[in-house]
Amino acid sequence: MTKKIFSGVQPTGNLHLGNYLGAIKNFVKLGNDSNNDCIYCVVDLHAITVKQDPRLLTENIRETVATFVASGIDPEKNIIFNQSRVSAHAEAAWIFSCVARMGWLSRMTQFKEKAGKDKEKASVGLYSYPVLMAADILLYDATHVPVGEDQKQHLELSRDIAQKFNNDFDQDNFLKIPEPLIQKEFSRIMSLRDGTKKMSKSEVSDLSRINLTDNKDSIILKIKKAKTDPLPLPNNVTELENRAEAKNLLSIYSSLNETSLENSVKEFAGKNFSEFKEVLIQVLVDKIEPISLEINKLMSNQEYLDKILDLGYEKANDLASKKVNRLKEIVGFY
Ligand code: TYM
Repeated sequence: MTKKIFSGVQPTGNLHLGNYLGAIKNFVKLGNDSNNDCIYCVVDLHAITVKQDPRLLTENIRETVATFVASGIDPEKNIIFNQSRVSAHAEAAWIFSCVARMGWLSRMTQFKEKAGKDKEKASVGLYSYPVLMAADILLYDATHVPVGEDQKQHLELSRDIAQKFNNDFDQDNFLKIPEPLIQKEFSRIMSLRDGTKKMSKSEVSDLSRINLTDNKDSIILKIKKAKTDPLPLPNNVTELENRAEAKNLLSIYSSLNETSLENSVKEFAGKNFSEFKEVLIQVLVDKIEPISLEINKLMSNQEYLDKILDLGYEKANDLASKKVNRLKEIVGFY
């Protein structure tokens, strides 16, 4: 059976190692499998749920496309497009916001984290953002959605919306119930400065993350400065339990090397951090520097990036407009 894959990334700048290991690396693998139809979306409507500088946003949309391509997503085999051009997303999001319940949204932990203490000042869009995410997925009948751990709850909401819509309108299987694709290991990469916090674009300290646009010197500096603890590396995985930083760095190493955490723990058992960091730096430079160089190169070819988005728009719009028209008919609009 053909798998229909859909996923999205916000063009908010600073795409980092967490985005790569938690999501984009998987997009590449899925996109290279001829059994899959893959759609990768630059979710610019999601980006404006927090304030953006318009000129920077345009630049970041292109940079996200460049990152997809530089990471290995083939724009001819896969659909790459930006969300705001396909108006069906906004239309479907409205319909689904009348299906989703306040109670469901108020349980979303990411809103609570992002809104912080001053919820009154958060945009309405930030609150209803998972509904737009449901529209993204359900418009394309996606069967599988590759994401990092932090998006799991939003995906469950998409499933609830699909089920409630099908029930409310007596439409057996009109909206397909999507399956999350979350890697068992390494689906949550942590900050280099604090192993208990997620690596994030919005963290003030740039030393907390490896950006996919970082050059070799920055990668070296950031790993050298990465927080550790005074003990040598442990002999088994269980001993990593209260050692968040050690666990994170070993996870990064394992994920880049396509090996298990258990194997990496064996490899470095009893060694000092300084020794391990040298090897980690080498792997990171080998894997990330080529991506960074390619992003730079692609960013100087705006015409090529815009062509990818034009082509992606045609294909995505064709699929989404058919689905949204049917959705509107079912609701009773004409
Ligand atoms: P966004 O832009 O925050 O992140 C893009 C992808 O990167 C993953 N990710 C991480 N994975 C592991 N460790 C981390 N530290 C880390 N940080 C980010 C995210 O889980 C995500 O997969 N709402 C989504 C975008 C979206 C979407 C969609 C995704 C909009 N519509 C439809 C799937 C399907 C978001 O803000 O991702």
